[in-house]
Amino acid sequence: MNQKSPRQVHLETFGCQMNEYDSELVRSLLTRDGFIMTDDRERADVILMNTCAIRENAHNKVYTHLSDLRALKRQRPLVVGVLGCMAQNLKEELAAKEPLVDVLAGPDAYRQLPMLIADAIESQEQGERRKGMAVDLSEYETYDDVVPERRDGVNAWIAVMRGCDNFCSFCVVPYTRGRERSREPEGIVAEARLAASQGFKQITLLGQNVNSYRSGDWDFARLLVAVADVPGIERVRFTSPHPKDFPPALLEAVLSHPRICKHIHLPVQSGNDRILSLMNRTYTRAAYLTLVDQILAAGPGMVLTTDIIAGFCSESDAEFADTYRLLEEVRYHAAFIFKYSERKNTIAARKHPDDVSDAVKSERVTALVDLQRRISQERNRAYIGSTLPVLVEGDAKRSSLQGMGKSDGNITVVWEKSSVSASPGQIIALSIYDCSASTLYASAP
Ligand code: SAH
Ligand code: SF4
Ligand code: F3S
Repeated sequence: MNQKSPRQVHLETFGCQMNEYDSELVRSLLTRDGFIMTDDRERADVILMNTCAIRENAHNKVYTHLSDLRALKRQRPLVVGVLGCMAQNLKEELAAKEPLVDVLAGPDAYRQLPMLIADAIESQEQGERRKGMAVDLSEYETYDDVVPERRDGVNAWIAVMRGCDNFCSFCVVPYTRGRERSREPEGIVAEARLAASQGFKQITLLGQNVNSYRSGDWDFARLLVAVADVPGIERVRFTSPHPKDFPPALLEAVLSHPRICKHIHLPVQSGNDRILSLMNRTYTRAAYLTLVDQILAAGPGMVLTTDIIAGFCSESDAEFADTYRLLEEVRYHAAFIFKYSERKNTIAARKHPDDVSDAVKSERVTALVDLQRRISQERNRAYIGSTLPVLVEGDAKRSSLQGMGKSDGNITVVWEKSSVSASPGQIIALSIYDCSASTLYASAP
């Protein structure tokens, strides 16, 4: 790096776990090149935002953040960079609309980031304002040789593949992250070994559709087992499988391996066949329910969660009611429920008018959230009186007098630290005595 003193970089991450992982790659690429990462935004020479484009409110968050930086940038020299899915999705539009932004880099362009930042700093020092932009998508980039710089914690994310070829009609991800490509299994297992040696107890394998993972004769089930066999790793999770191609071997791996968590996140999106077809999900309600039956029949400890979109293009009241009934029927442990948000470039944005009113979308979301809260509360109530192994993560969000961890099924468990002594990374048996829709309350057994 052709700079006098090391520059301090502050990086904020929005969006999904894949972005969390990518931020670890970015930290690694930047420190490798002589930059210093800082948590202190006020002292940073460079402020980067790793952004998400999945829904309108994800965009709005970033715009709010950008306008916060305006005042900072008036006070001192500052390079502002937008990374990730929004940078990829909006490209020139974002650069033109936000004069504040000096650097734009999409998810496949992070190797160029140190150079782009150094160039932006140099141009500012010369009293110019050159903008740097790298938004080419790649068919090959997997950052296999970049060792992610992880923060302390109990969980290590590992991306096993990048991109998505599914083109669900509502979704921007195939445009922001490009074509599907899998990493070599050896690199992934080596990364899991390294995480174990650094003290991480849990690995979460990431991919937009992990079932598409392929490398030679390795499929995802084989990879999952290989990672779960890494000594020192206590729990392995993965997200997400696509319901269209859930192989029996994957269910078998989840069931039979003691360190693979008995939790499956299986996004359904809608319970109505016409809407599923418009969404290009390529499965029917009946096929999805058959898969759910197989999963839930596999063992009483199985935890199932999902994602739903309410108010997709032309969804009628009766079609929405099919989704409502599907939730009643499956009785997920938890569901993430979203209002449909039209995204630029998607198939839906080009072909299907966003014609459900915002008021109706809100009503539908509220109805589903209320229903799911009741179901989650009932599901959680069934744990009262039982003893569960809990992986300790740290302090509870609400109070540092309480500890927090996760059950094998990924349910949040909270306890009074005065009565349970445990440190992060430990797995302890706790007795559940109460619950809310989102939390199990526990004490020492
Ligand atoms: N690849 C993952 C999903 C990633 S996006 C998978 O297929 O499982 C996470 C969730 O965001 C999706 O499951 C969907 O429910 C929601 N989502 C995606 N695009 C959306 C949009 N345009 N509006 C509202 N919700 C959306
Ligand atoms: Fe988006 Fe569908 Fe790909 Fe998931 S599978 S990232 S919802 S296109
Ligand atoms: Fe993730 Fe958001 Fe991109 S959900 S893949 S960061 S659009």
